[in-house]
Amino acid sequence: MFNKRVKIKELLTWEPGNQEVTIMGWVRTFRNNQFIAVNDGSTNTNLQVLLELGKYDDDFLKRITTSAALKITGTVIPSPGKGQKLELKATSVEILGDSDPEKYPLQPKKHSLEFLREIAHLRFRTNTFGSVFRVRHALAYAIHKFFNDKGFLYLHTPIISASDAEGAGELFRVTTLPFENFPKNEDGTVNFKEDFFGRSTNLTVSGQLEGELAATAFSDIYTFGPTFRAENSNTARHLAEFWMIEPEMAFYDLEDNMNLAEEFIRYIIQHAMDHNREDLEFLAQRLEDEEKQLPQDKRSGMNLMDKLEFILKNSFERISYSEAIEILKESNHNKKKKFQFPISGWGMDLQSEHERYLVEKHFKKPVILNNYPKEIKAFYMRQNDDGKTVAAMDILVPGIGEIVGGSQREERLDKLEQRMKDMHIPEKDLWWYLDIRRYGTVPHSGFGLGFERMVQFVTGMTNIRDVIAFPRTPGNAEF
Ligand code: 4AD
Ligand code: MG
Repeated sequence: MFNKRVKIKELLTWEPGNQEVTIMGWVRTFRNNQFIAVNDGSTNTNLQVLLELGKYDDDFLKRITTSAALKITGTVIPSPGKGQKLELKATSVEILGDSDPEKYPLQPKKHSLEFLREIAHLRFRTNTFGSVFRVRHALAYAIHKFFNDKGFLYLHTPIISASDAEGAGELFRVTTLPFENFPKNEDGTVNFKEDFFGRSTNLTVSGQLEGELAATAFSDIYTFGPTFRAENSNTARHLAEFWMIEPEMAFYDLEDNMNLAEEFIRYIIQHAMDHNREDLEFLAQRLEDEEKQLPQDKRSGMNLMDKLEFILKNSFERISYSEAIEILKESNHNKKKKFQFPISGWGMDLQSEHERYLVEKHFKKPVILNNYPKEIKAFYMRQNDDGKTVAAMDILVPGIGEIVGGSQREERLDKLEQRMKDMHIPEKDLWWYLDIRRYGTVPHSGFGLGFERMVQFVTGMTNIRDVIAFPRTPGNAEF
């Protein structure tokens, strides 16, 4: 058997007592032909490996370079060095993979995040990305645990879809039709009947509509999968391919929905605090160092750990859209014309600068904005009795803005049909969605959490491209 080894994270918890072990990993640094710092990705803490001087010839020692892959067997001894309890005294060192130091682009020094994005295939080997991706993993695990423990069913909704759930038209088309000489209808338009699925299809923007179908049988379901949006937004919060968690619950109104979302966010943050403290503390320090370079007014003013603790201890502010507009209109920021988009009044869509003003300057905590004007929200949201608003809710958090979007769904067939007509959404494409309102319709609600935005929030990474392994953004699909 080749792989009988101990992971470094596990080994570092041992009491040194001359135990013989084998470890494998990649060299971070090699000093004085004697000390190798090895990392295997299980933790940011490197294992110090001690080589006996004179035992290895020069040609061999020269091959121990940054990022070379090693298999080392040795004995675990107490470390005389500061800050480490133990080290490994090597008895045999095998080089599994060389790494040419003249060519390897990642030297043991600080690189900019922009540079690391260009070598995303190697950036996992840095401390920052080690921590980010371990935290991302932990959050994904916590999400499944949260819903599983609550009796929710994990539903896999399709990636290829014929509908536009959000009605925003930001679709990536899926087709096998040729680009030239494609089949045409008599009026010259593309004849999608000839296409692979016999109709026009796209990558899904949301699994919600299918989620609603399952929720009206299983009561509580959630999805957790990739979603795609062809919006041409080159921002630090938008991806063309991102992961979304979409719970959908029968017998839930908007308030139940908000309660669940708040509990959910707190639970997964708590999980990361409990299981990834070392990584989070590293990221907190990284953020603090990064913010030192910024002017005072651009700093978040709160350490990452304190910010996360704060979320755990304080409930989110809940206000209506109408109240938010009043606050924004009356703000000095607006009066001094500091918003790029001035507050024109009730009915306007909120820009991220407005959302961030509310959470960062006004309330200084997460805010759940609810009951938005129906004109600026999707067709499926439940219409309120005032005839003007829908039972929508968005959760906004400091540093990011919108992290969750959700609503109570319109369960009344006639109201839904009317709304679809008004918004020019063809009933014939969504007959199955309407059927749910025909057979045992119930009040139901759900929301979508943008996973990468959540990872950004927990890790303090300012650019969304740095919390997903291989980001897809306009003009960018490398790796
Ligand atoms: O607000 P959105 O568009 O809501 C929906 O898709 C609903 N179907 C959800 C539901 O009710 N089941 O998207 C939900 C969340 C946003 O709040 C945001 O966090 C994230 O998805 N999101 C994006 N994240 C990264 N890049 C993008 N382009 C995103 N678009 C939305
Ligand atoms: Mg939204």
